[in-house]
Amino acid sequence: MEGSTARDAALLSEHLNESLRRLPGPAYYQVLKWIHRVLGPANYLEIGVHKGISLEQAAKTTPTIGIDPAPSIEHPLSPAVTVYEMTSDDFFAQHDVHELLGGPVELAFIDGLHLFEQVLRDFVNLESRSSADTVVILHDCLPLDEVTAARERTTDFYSGDVWKATLALRQHRPDLDMVIVPTAPTGLCLVRNLDPASRFEEELPGVESELLDRNFDYYLAHQEEMPPEIPNDIEAVRDWLTARQS
Ligand SMILES: C[S@@+](CC[C@H](N)C(=O)[O-])C[C@H]1O[C@@H](n2cnc3c(N)ncnc32)[C@H](O)[C@@H]1O
Repeated sequence: MEGSTARDAALLSEHLNESLRRLPGPAYYQVLKWIHRVLGPANYLEIGVHKGISLEQAAKTTPTIGIDPAPSIEHPLSPAVTVYEMTSDDFFAQHDVHELLGGPVELAFIDGLHLFEQVLRDFVNLESRSSADTVVILHDCLPLDEVTAARERTTDFYSGDVWKATLALRQHRPDLDMVIVPTAPTGLCLVRNLDPASRFEEELPGVESELLDRNFDYYLAHQEEMPPEIPNDIEAVRDWLTARQS
């Protein structure tokens, strides 16, 4: 047991070092903080809160919903935050987001179950509760390697196959405006120009069967089909967030 813990720790640090080599600059918590500061959203919804560190990047006064079936919050959260201990599917089925937030979702972060079909479901659930100004952030769009991008988790460092959700939105939703910030450990994809009346949900079964068996080699061969990257610096992120849709 001790041996396997030591091996796990060594592998984690190997994966982290490789991701920092590939994705230099500020890590994703810093980028999330920039986004909150630039947008100053009226509300924030986060799917997958874990210890609450990404939640802490929001302004303390921003009305915030966190969703996680097994949160392990380590520090007291601001009174503006309510955590719902349930899966995102159950949350959207049981709660009226407009009522809870007093309007559409303004900023959301998807970082829950790391399977692409779940991320797509989280996205369509958010989109139907969005407005023209909503920004959705997807975590883990830049996978590191085959093992850490597998559908079955065997490593501490793990992105799952979330990259497929990013690719699917890029290919099937040309109306969305998407960019990737290459921030460690596994990138953030920023999405705007959402359409709350979109019927993309009806396409999900077809999209899922198209992508289910695609593997990491497919990703490597199709990286140019992913959304374009912007530099991982505050000026580039601010410019994209504040620019009008072209
Ligand atoms: C990578 S962690 C989130 C990390 C956090 N966002 C951060 O950056 O500090 C993923 C979290 O998603 C949660 N999760 C797993 N399945 C979920 C689901 N179906 N809906 C919402 N959250 C889920 C897990 O319990 C876990 O705490």
